[in-house]
Amino acid sequence: MALDIFKISGPVRLTGEVTISGSKNAALPIIAATILAPGKSTLCGVPNLSDIKVMCQLVENLGCKASIDNGTVTIDSTNIDNPFGDYEIVRKMRASVCILGPLLGRCGKVEVSMPGGCAIGYRPVDIHLRGLRELGAKIELKNGYIVAHANGGLKGANIFLGGPFGSSVLATANVLSASVLAKGKTIIDSAACEPEITDLAKCLKKMGAKISGIGSPQLTIKGVKKLKPIEHTVIPDRIEAGTFLAAAAITKGNLKLKNSRVDHLMAVIDKLRSMNVTVEQTKDGCEVVSNSLSKPTDITTLPYPGFPTDLQAQFMACLCLAKGNSVISEKIFPDRFMHVSELSRMAANLRKEGPHVIVSGVEKLIAAPVMASDLRASAALVLAALAAQGETIVNRVYHIDRGYEKIEEKLNACGAKIERQSI
Ligand code: EPZ
Repeated sequence: MALDIFKISGPVRLTGEVTISGSKNAALPIIAATILAPGKSTLCGVPNLSDIKVMCQLVENLGCKASIDNGTVTIDSTNIDNPFGDYEIVRKMRASVCILGPLLGRCGKVEVSMPGGCAIGYRPVDIHLRGLRELGAKIELKNGYIVAHANGGLKGANIFLGGPFGSSVLATANVLSASVLAKGKTIIDSAACEPEITDLAKCLKKMGAKISGIGSPQLTIKGVKKLKPIEHTVIPDRIEAGTFLAAAAITKGNLKLKNSRVDHLMAVIDKLRSMNVTVEQTKDGCEVVSNSLSKPTDITTLPYPGFPTDLQAQFMACLCLAKGNSVISEKIFPDRFMHVSELSRMAANLRKEGPHVIVSGVEKLIAAPVMASDLRASAALVLAALAAQGETIVNRVYHIDRGYEKIEEKLNACGAKIERQSI
């Protein structure tokens, strides 16, 4: 793995146009779901990211053929002879767990490594397993692997998928994907409503699945005998878009975002407006203008349509420079605060109290060497560096490469000064 670093000189004011890529978190479960329909499926608008490559490698190991070419991923799932998710792949990317449901649906059996620890906190998979058991799967844990069988096939059921923090995105993806080929009717209550799940459900419908209630917390699925391969374009990445909105806010900039969906960003735009940042819808996206010092605001992360946990770190960076105090409460991953100590190294004034952080705005952030710990925390450090005085070094940039396509090129085209160096 190349251990690249970013050298970022600040402060800058970002102006210009950015094209938002397709959504990583929509593409991952959709690639997994193509397993359900034997044949060749084509997915367009897929971002060129390391996580997507890992997912393609995973489906190739199952026996499929996968290729990635300039935003188009083709998966030929005619043959699946090895329904096995190796620890060596799953440990690189937790989202590998989303092959569980599709493989159970297609093959009636699967072994996938149990995902391990993660920089954003404790992330169990009990809700995934509960939902699949309700569909009739027999599941055991053996030597660190989830071993599941559905002898005689899966059967529709009424399933409540809520957990201690509300709905689960990938548990919904798994149970929904498994249920479309189950016998009879399945009702999933407390299903995740994230746009990525809606995109997956639409894809499954294109394949021939019978699903109603898409976009709501209650999904009704009538099992079908088989599905056909599809062509599909994934939705724009709302988290990448939100990150660029935050980049404009923190640099008092003016950005036009192309290929972004304002309707997927309502909670985020609402917060930006309360911070004194203007966001207007345009023909194919939105324009964000931030001329003055941001006002402080309180943010609580929640399942969609609430404020996304995947933008918590980036907005914390912005609020570090707001005039006054803000409180950030993390209601999805209570320990997702690795960025707090790194932002503090850049002279932010932050106090963590359990799952809350009190952000007292400072007049300036000051460049420092910092360490990226996970994808969104690294994005927050890049944003802070754009606004900070001096040259910030962001180490372990591979975290950011998992989820942001060409981030330094996109930011540099709008006036940032970011240099990537391999060390
Ligand atoms: C998805 O992860 C995303 N990943 C995450 O994005 C995102 O942060 C998260 O949803 C929340 O929006 C992908 O889509 C690939 P959850 P997921 O299950 O599905 C608890 C990024 O930066 N829970 O919705 O794994 C869990 O611990 C990533 O792109 C259980 O208790 O998240 C958390 O508190 C990181 N048991 C809450 O539910 C379970 O079985 C929500 O997690 C499953 C989850």
